[in-house]
Amino acid sequence: MVSSGQTAADAAAAFAALSTPAGRRVLTAAGSAPADPLKAATALRREAEEALAAAAADRAPDVAPADLAAAALTQARLRERARGKFGERAGRMFFTSPGLEQATRRSVTAYRAGRMAAALGPGARVADLGCGIGADAIGLAEAGLTVDAVEADPLTAAVAAANAEALGLSERMRVREGDAAAVRPEDYDAVFCDPARRTTRGRVFDPDAYSPSWDAVTDLAARAPASCVKAAPGIPHERIPAQAAAEWISVDGELKETALWQGLAEARPRRAAVLLRGDGSAPAVLAEDPGAPTAPVGPPARYLYEPDNAVVRAHLVAEAAARVEGALLDPDIAYITSDRLVATPFARAFEVHETMPFSLKRLRSALRAKDAGSVTIKKRGSAVDVDKLLRDLKPKGSESVVVVLTRVGDHPLCLLCSEVTALP
Ligand SMILES: C[S@@+](CC[C@H](N)C(=O)[O-])C[C@H]1O[C@@H](n2cnc3c(N)ncnc32)[C@H](O)[C@@H]1O
Repeated sequence: MVSSGQTAADAAAAFAALSTPAGRRVLTAAGSAPADPLKAATALRREAEEALAAAAADRAPDVAPADLAAAALTQARLRERARGKFGERAGRMFFTSPGLEQATRRSVTAYRAGRMAAALGPGARVADLGCGIGADAIGLAEAGLTVDAVEADPLTAAVAAANAEALGLSERMRVREGDAAAVRPEDYDAVFCDPARRTTRGRVFDPDAYSPSWDAVTDLAARAPASCVKAAPGIPHERIPAQAAAEWISVDGELKETALWQGLAEARPRRAAVLLRGDGSAPAVLAEDPGAPTAPVGPPARYLYEPDNAVVRAHLVAEAAARVEGALLDPDIAYITSDRLVATPFARAFEVHETMPFSLKRLRSALRAKDAGSVTIKKRGSAVDVDKLLRDLKPKGSESVVVVLTRVGDHPLCLLCSEVTALP
């Protein structure tokens, strides 16, 4: 939120001013500011000058009109962007741009917080170590837990506190600026931690580059009576503490995160795939079955199932295959084939119309024979460049076809399919 020429202290002062009567007036005006940035800045600056002039001398915040206008406009723009994660309540919340990017969407927060509250009981005390703008802390407080949230960045901490206030949660969610490492996890019933996976240079993938570092996070979690840690969906399995149960969570088919649980009273499988839907319907959970045999391998049958990425990352493809009485096309590739059409939330189903060894020439003539015009290419275990292939194919017909590229052993395979949307 720091604009060029503005110091972090100016940005913090401008943010604080937003909660004064003058600031609220400018923030309201920012909600209907013109789309053109220059016109919006001019209109809001005028509004800020008037609002500050109208404020009683002893109640006017010490902020330049231009800074107040910029802070209000930033919030209005961020609130718009935040709707996808927070729905209509985004219009009452406060953000920083990096804080919004890193914030957990409401459906995931509600799922995790619900599980924590069910295991810990109402009023249990949870420390949120590195709370960002507070999305997870809000979820925990709304689930009935008492949250002490700590955030190292002063402006972000102020934003999280403003969110607690704006959502009427200040009594159950306290926010303070501080270092997570200074918190004593032993003093709480549980800790929650979502370490930063971004630096000013962009996203980081190595857990050692998280902040706090992965070692620090796992140490804090292990010292707490119970914990939930949010990690990247691609975290290597070997970095998951041996005593933790891991859940890979997807929303509407998009893999979002790995949640690592320790010490909660509920019995948990070591690995699970949790599928959430944007419509708020109940989560679908596929859990590890340690006694389950490995999935059989078989030739392409009438249907092909593409498991959800949470299932794949959780290494639960065999469990998903068992649900559809299916086999794998190749033991190392996550495509399931079956003669049975079974409705399952854990995989998308495709009817297979034709199977052939992959070659551009054969595929082109097969697509021409099907009058294919709209071609969707899916691949697993294939090195083919999809964009180039689509350019080379230039389909011109009127039918929709899904082309699946994969391999069986060393043999590239191509399946022409259509997605089954009406399931029994
Ligand atoms: C991924 S964000 C948290 C997002 C949050 N769970 C939410 O949904 O809004 C991680 C936060 O941890 C903060 N952080 C990083 N290292 C920290 C530390 N040692 N102590 C306290 N906060 C820290 C960062 O400033 C960042 O805001």
